[in-house]
Amino acid sequence: MHRLVGNVGLVTFNEQETPLIESDILKPCVLQQADVPLLSILQISDLHFGPPLVPPVAEALLETAHQLKLDAVVVSGDLTQRAKRSQFIDARKFLDRLPNVPRLVVPGNHDVPLYRVRERLLYPHRLYRELICDELNTVLKLPSAVIVGLDSTAPRTAITNGRIDSWQLDFCQQAFHDTPTGATRIVVAHHHFAPAPDYLRDSTMPKSRRAIMRFIELEVELILGGHLHRSYIGNSLDFYPGVHRERGIIIAQSGTSTSRRGRGREQEKNTFNLIEIFPQSIRLTHYLHFKAINGFAPNSRHEFCRYTPASAGLNPA
Ligand SMILES: [Fe+2]
Ligand SMILES: [Fe+2]
Repeated sequence: MHRLVGNVGLVTFNEQETPLIESDILKPCVLQQADVPLLSILQISDLHFGPPLVPPVAEALLETAHQLKLDAVVVSGDLTQRAKRSQFIDARKFLDRLPNVPRLVVPGNHDVPLYRVRERLLYPHRLYRELICDELNTVLKLPSAVIVGLDSTAPRTAITNGRIDSWQLDFCQQAFHDTPTGATRIVVAHHHFAPAPDYLRDSTMPKSRRAIMRFIELEVELILGGHLHRSYIGNSLDFYPGVHRERGIIIAQSGTSTSRRGRGREQEKNTFNLIEIFPQSIRLTHYLHFKAINGFAPNSRHEFCRYTPASAGLNPA
């Protein structure tokens, strides 16, 4: 069965033809459990240092970040507007003022020079490597999670839509191979694997399906991304049902955390995500900047049972 969804293209649904892989993974879990998570991760995105930055919002974000009890910070790309040295320097200073916890950063399409064509073709990530992070694909291993950051920018071929190459999926497999039981496997990439609910100016990353299928095999529980400048939560099962129908991956997008480039329902708005990992669930809170208080506050909260084989032993029988 085929269905045309918005302007994202033809999506194939094959529930009728594809046999499900039976599993006893799916068991109920307990929501609303202990308030102390195993792990708290701040996800910010699309900072866009340069003309679009809203400095008071950036200051408010820093203030809130220091009030939260964080174990890690994830930055899902587009730290700058035009990949200029001065913009990277300002982004670097901002990162250095965040809480001093382990950090994972991935580049976005705005972190490579769009108009400086020679530079984009020859050494697109030179300034990002020099001022933000020397590695483009990185792994952050924490006691309760393994987080893999993938460079989804494709400066020479797909500057806007991005790309994940097959070798990067092998890189994920290698990174996850010794993940402790119960630890959450998380993938971070700037470009999005599933469209936003409004489908506004939307085109998912090419070959997203291939990547999602591999992530399911690797028991990834959560994908974090940005690029669309609005926060939302998707699930891989909506677009890539596959055969492991009970193992959907939560896809959490952050809007732009500090710039005036918000889109859709987040036009002129700023958001970030707080992700809390519990033994049996993942709780995700969208924070929104409120002009009335000149600060960020929780705007919505979602909590998901954990169903991967690695976490199944943690669920009550
Ligand atoms: Fe962006
Ligand atoms: Fe982007």
